[in-house]
Amino acid sequence: MATPKLISLSSFFCLSFFLLTLSASLTFSRPTQQTKSSLSLYTNFLNCFTQHTTNSSNVVFSQTNPSFSTVLQDYIRNARFNKTTTPKPLIIVTPKTPSHIQSTVICSKSLNLQIKIRSGGHDYEGLSYVSSQSPFIILDMFNLRTINVDIEREQAYIQTGATLGEVYYRIYEKSKVHGFPAGVCPTVGVGGHLSGGGYGTMLRKYGLAVDNIIDAEIVDVKGRILNRKLMGEDVFWAIRGGGGGSFGVVLSYTVQLVSVPEIVTVFRIEKTLEENATDLVVQWQQVAPTTDERLFMRLLLQPITSKTVKGTKTMRASVVAMFLGGADEVVEILGKEFPLLGLKKEDCLELSWINSVLWYNDDQSIESGAKPETLLDRNVNSASYGKRKSDYVQKAIPKDSLELIWKKMIELGKVGFVFNPYGGKMAEIASDATPFPHRAGNLFKVQYSVNWKDDTEASETNYLNQAKSLYSFMTPYVSSNPRSAFLNYRDIDIGTNSFGKNSYQEGQVYGSKYFNDNFDRLVKTKTAIDPQNFFRNEQSIPVHP
Ligand SMILES: Cc1cc2nc3c(=O)[nH]c(=O)nc-3n(C[C@H](O)[C@H](O)[C@H](O)COP(=O)(O)OP(=O)(O)OC[C@H]3O[C@@H](n4cnc5c(N)ncnc54)[C@H](O)[C@@H]3O)c2cc1C
Ligand SMILES: *[C@@H]1O[C@H](CO)[C@@H](O)[C@H](O)[C@H]1NC(C)=O
Ligand SMILES: *[C@@H]1O[C@H](CO)[C@@H](O)[C@H](O)[C@H]1NC(C)=O
Ligand SMILES: *[C@@H]1O[C@H](CO)[C@@H](O)[C@H](O)[C@H]1NC(C)=O
Repeated sequence: MATPKLISLSSFFCLSFFLLTLSASLTFSRPTQQTKSSLSLYTNFLNCFTQHTTNSSNVVFSQTNPSFSTVLQDYIRNARFNKTTTPKPLIIVTPKTPSHIQSTVICSKSLNLQIKIRSGGHDYEGLSYVSSQSPFIILDMFNLRTINVDIEREQAYIQTGATLGEVYYRIYEKSKVHGFPAGVCPTVGVGGHLSGGGYGTMLRKYGLAVDNIIDAEIVDVKGRILNRKLMGEDVFWAIRGGGGGSFGVVLSYTVQLVSVPEIVTVFRIEKTLEENATDLVVQWQQVAPTTDERLFMRLLLQPITSKTVKGTKTMRASVVAMFLGGADEVVEILGKEFPLLGLKKEDCLELSWINSVLWYNDDQSIESGAKPETLLDRNVNSASYGKRKSDYVQKAIPKDSLELIWKKMIELGKVGFVFNPYGGKMAEIASDATPFPHRAGNLFKVQYSVNWKDDTEASETNYLNQAKSLYSFMTPYVSSNPRSAFLNYRDIDIGTNSFGKNSYQEGQVYGSKYFNDNFDRLVKTKTAIDPQNFFRNEQSIPVHP
């Protein structure tokens, strides 16, 4: 009996969560033409590739291959990067064996072709399949998705082409009391998510996905396959939050599973300004980051049309929560700590952990008959338009400031917030234990979120500007020096590295925001493993000057 809601979570969180910034600083060149030189590049690549591999049927796709568009579009997750003007790769390689990755690296390097690596394609700026430098190749990992779950050792070996939904399902097949603390959207890819420091509803209890990785395999710039022991602790550290695409191709992660109770509890409570949403948010800021670490209460804030006062707009605050325990217990905890929420047992739904994954992605899914098998659905070739940005809040925002923020959001019209509370385990892990630095001292992370369906340039410009305008308005309330950002909420507005320049200074602009003081260790590691900067993208780690 979850609270009825106006908008399904799936439309808010998953299906429509893509972003991008056409207008920002990336200028894309015109789409690659099938010129003579690109044809010969393709031929040369194919010759090299077949020399290095035994079986390459249906692995290398040229632009003239009839399947090229399908393969390209399947894992485009933001329609902003699905335009005729979007730069297209010269070649897409879909490796079926690790040796295909090795050959792709060796042959791309020898032909001076840039590689973009794509696992689930959810990069909010499309950096895994679009490039500001051409010609480029997409190395598309979706065929490499083996998952081996070993319940006795409480570990799983996961190839990076797997989706989070597949990971959760394969764990569930073997155990009802194990899980993995990663993201909410089942179609997100392991490759980008784990390399970028992914998090989900268990982060206050178990930290990020990267806090639970125990081994990995990469293909390095020399085409070697290296595990943790062979790559060394610096590289192993770097690929747990420092981003994919800077150090090599991540082929697999081996993770530590975590315990989950047989029954967990979820709920969703919504209040508008007329229902004292502002007071709710004031109290949420005190409680959500400090309460029992088994409880994750995400807060969504959106401008909406008022139901009570015709012709006006209001704000809606929705608390969407998952508790690793029973309903009675969470009702008791929040009755004491968060009276303004007014949580009752009837608001709560008790279910298995795997069903909570379905519910959290779409809170109508259980009622409409979703089964754990739904998590295996890859939902290819579906995307809306979207933009995301991020911030960190270290001091609770006072009530009068919240009121100013609501006014601004109502005026802008569409861009909303997702506040993700930290504390618990997140505050216990040292800020340099992984490249992800946003630990103790952060109350919550802010995601700026806007999605749209109409494909006109005018709406795109409008929504991108809304996001920028709100970001600017938030300056007094969020972290500064640096103004921190979350790598997995990729945002090219905060700086890019122009290709070919390989500039440490440019890299430092976005690098210090994503990684704070960890940036320099990432640069050092990058310089050691890939001194020529072969693995790069618009926001990769630069080599040392
Ligand atoms: C709908 C939606 C929901 C989301 N929900 C969450 C959430 O709950 N929690 C959260 O933390 N994040 C969330 N995100 C953000 C998500 O974690 C990142 O976008 C993540 O990078 C996606 O991984 P991917 O493999 O799907 O993306 P891709 O676009 O394939 O890759 C992202 C980046 O990683 C690189 N990369 C990918 N695979 C490899 C590889 N094998 N080796 C080296 N580099 C690689 C790419 O080149 C690119 O730079 C969400 C995103 C979307 C679109
Ligand atoms: C090559 O791969 C294809 C598809 O993966 C497979 O059907 C075929 O049997 C393989 N051929 C050889 C010689 O291994
Ligand atoms: C909102 O708060 C005011 C003042 O505390 C109170 O009188 C009123 O009943 C509250 N409204 C709702 C809908 O809870
Ligand atoms: C991309 O655009 C094509 C039409 O050009 C459309 O058929 C396809 O569904 C779109 N895919 C995505 C992921 O936006």
